[in-house]
Amino acid sequence: MDKLLIEGGAPLVGEVAVSGAKNAALPIICASLLCGDTLNLTNIPQLNDVATMLRLIGQMGVAVTMGDNGMLALDSGKLDNPVAPYELVKTMRASILVLGPLLARCGEAKVSLPGGCAIGARPVDQHIKGLQAMGAEIRVEGGYVLARAPRLKGARIVTDMVTVTGTENLMMAAVLAEGETVIENAAREPEIVDLANCLTAMGARIAGAGSDRISIQGVERLHGADHAVMPDRIETGTYLCAAAATRGDVVLTRTSAALLDAVIGKLREAGCAIECRPDSIALKAPRRLKSVGVRTAPYPAFPTDMQAQFMAINCVAEGAAVIRETIFENRFMHAVELIRLGADIRIDASNAVVTGVPALDGATVMATDLRASASLVIAGLVARGETLIERIYHLDRGYEHIEEKLRRLGANVRRLR
Ligand code: EPZ
Repeated sequence: MDKLLIEGGAPLVGEVAVSGAKNAALPIICASLLCGDTLNLTNIPQLNDVATMLRLIGQMGVAVTMGDNGMLALDSGKLDNPVAPYELVKTMRASILVLGPLLARCGEAKVSLPGGCAIGARPVDQHIKGLQAMGAEIRVEGGYVLARAPRLKGARIVTDMVTVTGTENLMMAAVLAEGETVIENAAREPEIVDLANCLTAMGARIAGAGSDRISIQGVERLHGADHAVMPDRIETGTYLCAAAATRGDVVLTRTSAALLDAVIGKLREAGCAIECRPDSIALKAPRRLKSVGVRTAPYPAFPTDMQAQFMAINCVAEGAAVIRETIFENRFMHAVELIRLGADIRIDASNAVVTGVPALDGATVMATDLRASASLVIAGLVARGETLIERIYHLDRGYEHIEEKLRRLGANVRRLR
């Protein structure tokens, strides 16, 4: 298994481009299942999760053509196997996003239940409940969701909680349903808007994406389209945190500050000077950050996917701060690894009290999930001496070319095979 070896202490300085958003690319790739024409995508990030999703739809009969620099053509004209097998689904929970499109296009689907994952049980009951409201017959047998629906019918759906992929699955199911579907309590994440923009380019009729009420008028069929995937706001926030922790001075291009207001607001509170330009963000860090508390919540509030990274920067900030995780029940696993580096963190249920220390000291640590591994990278960049991060396959799921980008900014980092 690959490892990342970091020699800490170098401030991140310079300019780097942000990649396309993993959490927009994944549902948008699934949207290709909805029609037999070609969907041409650009700004697709080269990530393990994207590769897994392409393998998943490829074994269903979709023709996948990868071009250079993030171009991807998907043609589901010969889609003939509406099955998502456990072997693939177990490696990536977002596989559940094929359920809605397969039901809408084929009238049937057999999708393995995603197992739990490190950060929580992450059930898909809301996905199922919404599809049943649209007339799907669904039963769970042998670890698989078996679904049938000759033609989905529009319905008014109120999800019990805000769910990002739940909203995406239901939106994709609704675009070919008979009549109107209204999703109340919908997730408002920018990735939902990006998916809605792609579906609209394909001929769907959607209103309200980005608000908590999305209405979809079903149409008979969709057609091919071209779509450029939005920038990755979590990758953006991760590099901003890395620069903030290392007294850095960076410019992130091909991204937009409007995607992460809450994160930028907290970094400013911590003492960073941040300049937002039309498609870039410049950050100058203070000599020492001030501790800043965060409470994660659905968009536009502070994103749970930035919680681990913010815990890392609070480890070396001045003062103490409380980090409250309200979305997932077990998303503090990075804390014990940060403590191995000398951090002062006390966990109490869904609260973490982080007291800044003058310095961290390098050690060997283990990545446990995607964003936890990002927090260990940030800590390693600022720790004295060498930090060796094990199991960085977690990192490769969501950060394109991470060591090249960090080296470009002056970090001493290399991958050990
Ligand atoms: C999406 O996961 C993201 N993944 C996650 O990013 C992100 O952390 C999460 O949204 C929250 O923002 C993708 O978009 C591919 P949810 P998702 O459904 O959709 C509960 C990353 O790091 N829930 O919004 O799976 C659930 O357990 C990943 O890139 C149900 O109970 O998250 C959680 O507590 C990690 N039943 C809460 O709702 C359901 O049917 C929010 O989950 C659905 C969700």
